Amino acid sequence: MKAAVYYETGGPDVFRYEDVPDPTCGPGDVLIRVEAVSVEGGDTLNRLGGDLASVPHVVGYQCAGRVLEVGDGVDDLAPGDRVVTVGVDGSHAELRVTGRSFCWRIPDGMSTEVAACVPVPFGTADDCLFEFGRLQAGETALVHAGASGVGIAAVQLAKRAGATVLATASSPERLDRLAGLGLDHGIDYATTDFVEEVRRLTDGRGADVVVDPVGGSNLQRSLHCLAYRGRCMTLGDAGRETPALLDISTMRAANQTLVGYFLGAELFLGTRAHAGIARHLDDIAAGDLQVVIDRRFALEEAGEAHAYIESRQAFGRVLLVP
Ligand SMILES: NC(=O)c1ccc[n+]([C@@H]2O[C@H](COP(=O)([O-])OP(=O)(O)OC[C@H]3O[C@@H](n4cnc5c(N)ncnc54)[C@H](OP(=O)(O)O)[C@@H]3O)[C@@H](O)[C@H]2O)c1
Repeated sequence: MKAAVYYETGGPDVFRYEDVPDPTCGPGDVLIRVEAVSVEGGDTLNRLGGDLASVPHVVGYQCAGRVLEVGDGVDDLAPGDRVVTVGVDGSHAELRVTGRSFCWRIPDGMSTEVAACVPVPFGTADDCLFEFGRLQAGETALVHAGASGVGIAAVQLAKRAGATVLATASSPERLDRLAGLGLDHGIDYATTDFVEEVRRLTDGRGADVVVDPVGGSNLQRSLHCLAYRGRCMTLGDAGRETPALLDISTMRAANQTLVGYFLGAELFLGTRAHAGIARHLDDIAAGDLQVVIDRRFALEEAGEAHAYIESRQAFGRVLLVP
């Protein structure tokens, strides 16, 4: 098969478009022909640095397509079915294999491209807001990187749950686009101190839940946004800073909580998150929630797609099409 691969981590120009061996479908696995790859924030970070699990390496968490083969023990999917899949790597390719418990059937009426964008952002946003963040109607949620894949999902889910939704982004244009998705108050963090702005918008109280995929120095400031009994979710390092040591000395007096979150652990260790993502697919198919697709690139243009995302112009998802 053809795949977008790299031999060393670094900038978007590390990608090569090459022939690599086809993945094999073992017991409990599902092999798909990929029709749409959603480039996840974690894909750009994995390409940027860190150890390589294989050389050449096929990066990528999430893609969708049609089942080609199922392994022993998989009796509820068959060749030709449309599925969206998640895995630790391997999405940037013509073929992808993953375990059955990391596949979701695509609802009738939903395009394969839209489905390709759903499990990781919506599963993550939902868990951060509700399972771990315990967000309630009437509370205030602050969503950092509101124009990101996770951010767009979180803004919609928090609004649907009856929360007041605040979000940060790097430009007013990005915040304007979030208004149509349920944002109550946008904060352009390039020109405004978001800690002061959250305090101002909440009459000094602070946010009940903060969703922080940015990390680094942003995370410390997220803690300073918390209300009494506030919960801060740390889920990523999109800001590309070295994780900073945190001063948590202010948290005890206000009974605040800092929670680390990893969707992979929830998918590996139980069925709850899988079922929640299946409900998100149905809700999107019914028009209750939206997926935003920004641009499409051919799979051989993976480097251009990653560069476009890192230029901070993307609003929502960028797809690769094999
Ligand atoms: N723990 C988990 O289970 C889990 C699951 C999903 C995602 N994540 C993590 O969450 C983060 C966001 O994922 P995503 O898929 O939503 O990402 P994405 O769609 O690629 O968006 C990333 C956002 O980060 C913001 N950003 C801030 N500083 C940046 C920088 N220096 N360079 C590039 N972007 C920067 C950008 O918004 P502005 O320009 O508006 O600031 C951008 O919209 C990633 O770190 C990812 O690894 C974790």
